[in-house]
Amino acid sequence: MSGATVLIVDDERTLARAIKGFLAEYGYEAEVAGDAESALAQLERLRPDVVFADVRLPGMNGIELLRRIREFDAAIPVIIMTAHGTIEGAVEAVKLGAFDYLKKPVDLEELKLLADRAREHSQLKQELSYYRRQAGRGETPDAGLAGVLGRSPAMRAVLDQARQIAQLDETPPVLITGETGTGKGLVARTIHATGARAGQPFIEVNCTALPATLMEAELFGHERGAFTDAKESKLGLFEAGEGGFLFLDEVGDIELALQGKLLRAIEDRTVRRVGGIRDRKVDVRILAATNRDLERETQRDRFRKDLYFRLAVLPLRLPPLRERGDDVLILAEHFLQRFSAKYGRPVPQMDAPARELLLAYPWPGNVRELSHVMERAVLWSRGDTIGVDHLSLTAPAESAPPASEGIPVLPPPGVDLGGWEKAMLERALADAGGNQTRAAQRLGITRDTLRYRLKKHGLQG
Ligand SMILES: Nc1ncnc2c1ncn2[C@@H]1O[C@H](COP(=O)(O)OP(=O)(O)OP(=O)(O)O)[C@@H](O)[C@H]1O
Ligand SMILES: [Mg+2]
Repeated sequence: MSGATVLIVDDERTLARAIKGFLAEYGYEAEVAGDAESALAQLERLRPDVVFADVRLPGMNGIELLRRIREFDAAIPVIIMTAHGTIEGAVEAVKLGAFDYLKKPVDLEELKLLADRAREHSQLKQELSYYRRQAGRGETPDAGLAGVLGRSPAMRAVLDQARQIAQLDETPPVLITGETGTGKGLVARTIHATGARAGQPFIEVNCTALPATLMEAELFGHERGAFTDAKESKLGLFEAGEGGFLFLDEVGDIELALQGKLLRAIEDRTVRRVGGIRDRKVDVRILAATNRDLERETQRDRFRKDLYFRLAVLPLRLPPLRERGDDVLILAEHFLQRFSAKYGRPVPQMDAPARELLLAYPWPGNVRELSHVMERAVLWSRGDTIGVDHLSLTAPAESAPPASEGIPVLPPPGVDLGGWEKAMLERALADAGGNQTRAAQRLGITRDTLRYRLKKHGLQG
């Protein structure tokens, strides 16, 4: 517990000092103020994580102090201390926004538990605002409501569905599918930003990033002591999304080991922290995205069927850019404006051959690829009309790089990397007559890595 600051406001010096000493043993830095006025004077400098204030103080009382602290920063948890017989004051304090109250004579253990809880709570608030900021970042500034561009019939249909989904407050999970760069992330954020829960959290998790054990703690939180590093309890992303959305990006990458727990959390709307014993109710809407064919993954036993059916109640399929007709040009113009503004240049025009090329190109990287191409074009055209040369797109047939220097040629419709990996593992094992050491050598990986991957693909118990 490093460096949390507690401010104790009490005119009983002995008691205040006892609290200070006790909390210090747990790594809290405590400061004492003898009255409300000097407490207020110290707020700016101290920025306490928790305040304990006696109700009865000389001069301004504890309730008034509570009000003033909340004006200063409503996120600071204030705990009011009351002597026997003044419970009414305590109740009023809680109504006015006190975090909790504590009866005098003070039980130090109880006080410490309250301090822990209050601190965890204010940390949570900070994390939430962090996630909110994260969520708003990285997208185009114009990406708010009208940020998803497209007038083609294929896009209109999807945007219509997205709008309806956004307007509902209660819906089953939504599964957004589509090739890479088709705008799954953008659509998820737009559903949040334009819907009834816009002011509530939008928590985004990339499911590729973490192995199952860490992911579980991240999603569901953990109690103190749940594992070696768990020095404090931590709330999970489900809880952090309370009232808002949880966006499970790349949900197809969630390890099988965790899929059952995820399903349970979604079905029962409860989570249990790692190392915890009770289920907590959560009210969070689930958005999930993947560029994999999850149905096929279920047939290969790499994704649980029940979870898939649960997630796919409301599917939103984003069409690839090559199926969106003239949307390519609308988007290209949009990116031209954006990047011209970014580099402080006049917005260039595109000539007819350039437009035709944009329409003919198959866009394997979809909208993201288009935005990169237009950014480059803005830089290379130097304000002139944009021609085919500025787009630096090779004709589709020649677009695959030569298979030299170990760079593999990818088949045009894309690859199923997981499938390839599994097939190569099977092949290497078969060639090695089932000998894992030799199979690992053959693949240029360690035996541990081989085992891990075999397990991942369910090739070995
Ligand atoms: N219809 C659209 N209108 C405007 N911008 C778009 C549109 N679709 C995508 N974009 C932009 O293209 C980029 C890629 O979109 P996004 O990251 O949402 O794709 P994705 O489907 O999540 O990709 P991946 O599968 O690789 O995660 C983003 O900068 C996004 O703002
Ligand atoms: Mg994405």
